[in-house]
Formats: sequence, structure tokens, C-alpha cells
Amino acid sequence: MSLRLELADRLKRLPPYLFAEIDRHKQEARARGVDLIDLGIGDPDLPTPPHVIDALARAAREPRNHRYPDYEGLLAFRRAAAAWYTDRFGVTLDPATEVLTLIGSKEGTAHIPLAFVNPGDVVLVPDPGYPVYAAGTWFAGGEPYFLPLRAERDFLPDLGAVPADVLRRSRILFLNYPNNPTAACAPLEFFREVVAFAKAHGIIVCHDAMYSELRFDGYTPPSFLQVPGAKDVGIEFHSCSKSYSMTGWRIGFAVGNRQVLAGLGRVKTNVDSGVFQAVQEAGIAALSGPQDYVAHVRRVYQERRDVVVGGLRRLGLPVSAPRATFFVWAPVPDGSESRKWASRLLQEAGVVVTPGVGFGPSGEGYYRIALTVDKTRIAEAIERLGRLPI
Ligand SMILES: Cc1ncc(COP(=O)(O)O)c(C=O)c1O
Repeated sequence: MSLRLELADRLKRLPPYLFAEIDRHKQEARARGVDLIDLGIGDPDLPTPPHVIDALARAAREPRNHRYPDYEGLLAFRRAAAAWYTDRFGVTLDPATEVLTLIGSKEGTAHIPLAFVNPGDVVLVPDPGYPVYAAGTWFAGGEPYFLPLRAERDFLPDLGAVPADVLRRSRILFLNYPNNPTAACAPLEFFREVVAFAKAHGIIVCHDAMYSELRFDGYTPPSFLQVPGAKDVGIEFHSCSKSYSMTGWRIGFAVGNRQVLAGLGRVKTNVDSGVFQAVQEAGIAALSGPQDYVAHVRRVYQERRDVVVGGLRRLGLPVSAPRATFFVWAPVPDGSESRKWASRLLQEAGVVVTPGVGFGPSGEGYYRIALTVDKTRIAEAIERLGRLPI
């Protein structure tokens, strides 16, 4: 009998992977010899700081680190994460029960629905948004209910607009501020509204705050857990990936409600065996060591942001300057579909951007520029864009 290779329904339900199409176009352009400027990828081009690499090298030589780690992470890492969190946000955490080590925040956001969502349950998911929130929901048999993020509401969801029958079936609310892809930031008042909403409807809040440290102009994004009562209703995800340019290292953490974290931990004991302890030692070095590296990357991304925002404005293309993240969320200038615009930029200017619709239908009309190449290349990308008849 031939192998039955038909994919499971949960994979078939995933929307088509838009980035596959972009990747194909990129490959074709490169094959034609086009000098591509890739502003599509949210992956830092800067190297991890040397003291973190040294910590890994030292820890990798220790035989005690070669064994299976505990799924919840070294207590020393969880202590470092709790201390960093208290220092940054003024919120105290019990490292033993209120911090869980993750293989990057992606792993935590993908797995949390498996702990709390049954088939037929609803998960409230921002649109546009990081695609993993919806994918994790589908994998758990749940239904995402998309919350549109619109410019007129500063890209904050209208929680009051969720219908009562949806609320009754909702188990989790995903939020992400500073936001990918819109770069919007949420004020503490919004998180107050979220805590009241979660309490009124018994919904678990999962706030993805992984961009909290890529902030500009002296602005400091608040944490969801700064609101009194937030720990009763939810958790927050953080990561070493972007603040310390460690995307390849795979280390992050979740903090907050101990029962929610215990549920996520139950899933993890069954699907992974934690983070390589040497990487956790490196994570401790990142979180507890000198923080001048983070100040440096902020300066670099802020400079690049200014090149993009200033450049687009000079071309007569209005755009808001983000206060955090390393993304610029810009309106498509000629009113065309974001996919067409992104494809035009690639074909006619050799510049790669991400069409907003790739993050959900409410992303239509926008495109995302990632500030992950150096400023001279960014300036060149803007110059090439300026040569296009719009
Ligand atoms: C909003 C958001 N959450 C999570 C992640 C995943 O990060 P990590 O490397 O910590 O898994 C990303 C990565 O781009 C992201 O944009």
C-alpha cells in the first residue's frame, strides 16, 4: 500500500503561507542578479554581545550542562529573569512559580492554547498579528476570533465590540504591545481595561511583550503586569531574541499567573525537554550583565527608523514614527493592494517589504519595513523607492 501522505486537517486549515510566495520572488530576483535590499525579515543583523557568547562557551564545556535540562528552566535563569523584570517594571515575581523558561516566546505562544483550549472554544486574536497566535489556536482545535487593529483606535482592539456569544466561548485573549506588525504601543490605561475585561468574562490574557526593550525617544513601554490584579488573569511573554540579538539561540520566558504557567508547563513536559543549560547560562549573562548593549541597539534602530521615516516623508509619503519595535508600518502609497505594492517594490526596485495583508485581512492597505539592515542600505532602498512613479 502506498504511503498515505495526506496532511492532517489542522495543517490544511492554515492559511496559505504568503511568505513562501515572497521567498520565491526573492530567489528569482537574486537569480537574475538583482542587488536585493531585504527589509522583510524581523531578524536582527547585529551580533550577540561578546559577554553572552563567552558565557555560552564556558557553560558548554561543563559536563553538567550536557544532560537533559528541567523543562521549567534553571532556577538561576528564572531568578535572573525575575530580577530583570522587577528592575525594569517594578513588579515582583516568585522565580519558582511565576517564571517559566521558554524555547523562545514563539514556543510559549504556540503551546498555550493546548493547555486551555478545547475544540469549539474561541481565542481572541489580533488582526493584523503574529501568525502563531492563530496557528496555535487551530492546532488546539479552537477557533480564532479576529480583533481588528485599526489606525483610528491607535491599533488597540475594541474589546467592547466582541459579541456576547463569542465572549461566552472565549478562553484566551492574545495581545502584543509593542506590536508586530503595526509598531503600536499600548498605554497602561488600555491594560487596565484588559484586566477588567478578563475578570468580567473569565478570559486568560496572554500578552506578548517581546519588543518591550526596542524603544526610542526615551519612551518606556509599560508591562501588562503593572496593572493591579493582572497576575490574577494572565501572563506576559518576553524573549532574549530581539533585545540581545539572540534569535538563533532560542531562549525566552513567560511570567505572571502561576496556574496559567503551570498549565503551559504541563504541555511542555510532554513535548520538549527545555532549553540547553549552556544557553540558559548565556541568557543569565544577557539579563544580569551590563545593559549597554541594549542601549546601543536602540540607538542603531532609532537611527535607521529616522532614515526610513524622514525619507518616506520627504517623498510625500506620510508615515508615523514608531516609538518601539524595529518595524515601520506604512500605508501603501498608491492605494493599491499591499501584495501588489510589495511585488512592485521587489520587481522594480529590488526592495523587499512585507505586505500588510500577510498578517491578516485588517493589515490590507499597509506594508511593513523591518529595520534590520544598515542605514546606508536603508537610505538606498528609500532612494530606489523614490525613483518609482507612484
Ligand atoms: C510578536 C512576536 N512574538 C514572538 C516572536 C518570536 O520570538 P522568539 O524568537 O522569542 O521565539 C516574534 C518574532 O518575530 C514576534 O514578532
